[in-house]
Amino acid sequence: LSKQIAGQIPFFDLSRKIMRHRLLIDGAVDRVLSSGNFVLGRECEYFEASFATYVGVQHCVGVANGTDALELALRASGIKAGMKVATAANAGNYATTAASALGAEIAYIDVEFATRNITLEAVQKAVGEGAKAVIATHLYGLAIAEIAEISAFCLERGITLIEDCAQAHGARVRGRVVGSFGDASAFSFYPTKNLGALGDAGAVLTNNDAIASNVRKLRTYGWSEKNSIELPGGRNSRLDEIQAAILSDLLPFLDEDNERRRKIARAYCAGINATDMDLPQFTNDEFAAHLFVLTSENRSTYISKFADASISTSIHFPIPDHLQPHLTGSPEFSLPVTERLARQVMSLPCYPELLDEEVDAIIQAFK
Ligand SMILES: Cc1ncc(COP(=O)(O)O)c(C=O)c1O
Repeated sequence: LSKQIAGQIPFFDLSRKIMRHRLLIDGAVDRVLSSGNFVLGRECEYFEASFATYVGVQHCVGVANGTDALELALRASGIKAGMKVATAANAGNYATTAASALGAEIAYIDVEFATRNITLEAVQKAVGEGAKAVIATHLYGLAIAEIAEISAFCLERGITLIEDCAQAHGARVRGRVVGSFGDASAFSFYPTKNLGALGDAGAVLTNNDAIASNVRKLRTYGWSEKNSIELPGGRNSRLDEIQAAILSDLLPFLDEDNERRRKIARAYCAGINATDMDLPQFTNDEFAAHLFVLTSENRSTYISKFADASISTSIHFPIPDHLQPHLTGSPEFSLPVTERLARQVMSLPCYPELLDEEVDAIIQAFK
């Protein structure tokens, strides 16, 4: 592998993961081919049960992708057109896409610069201004430090809390896995995710029986039984068996992979620092290290210097939700921290299959 990749360091390389797990993946695909069942079958049920146990909740409902998971979680919780949904604007527009699909009004919450996440205080303000639901994204894999307090506050006020855990599989707050704090949580298993499939996949997790039952209906057109639509707003959003089988077989690696990601992140924190730079702050498993994102006023210089050294970097995310080009006119509000982050964030490669030599090469290139 070292020989094969010598010379350039990709931002992410799925082929390494496939190489590492090839036997497992072949076995999973083979199981499905032999079963003759390809959509919402026993592999899906098995994965749903395993992942619910891992997160520590009662229900996991597999769906087609993470954006559908967010949208169906909102619909299943009774959020409707015209209701206000509060969320951050620095998380790639996924929550905005999901809330907009059901006609909700979006109230953006500015984030904290150091954590890049929302805070209890900001949630309280949004609820004070009429939000009926909150989508709390554990961005870049860092669990929202106050998620338990946000959950208690929302419960007390009858506000729906949906956690977006697409970047934070396995992150924990005081030992409790994220995805277990909200009324429901949404996961994406897109191939780059900490638990990734080899295609699109997602899930809604919840302890609430009614929400779980609603998502089960909504993912198959709103059917309560075949061809009988009980719930409006449904669609086809099914998890396929090959992805479910692969996810079940990769789940046992999640915690050790997250530890490897943190090791890489720690090495960067020790080896990469400059007065014009802020680095992610974490101590342990509150960070699933999905992305290693630093900020600098001199981002473009760093990006081009890394490119000169054949190191790929990325930007998550360059355009905040409220400034997307399809929106006409300028917004009547500003989100100063979100806007500053969009100008300054840059991501370094951070995935379990990144080699120690490559991590060293990235640090040396920085120096
Ligand atoms: C924070 C966040 N939420 C939601 C999603 C949406 O997931 P998907 O791409 O599976 O629709 C993503 C993924 O890209 C994400 O990073």
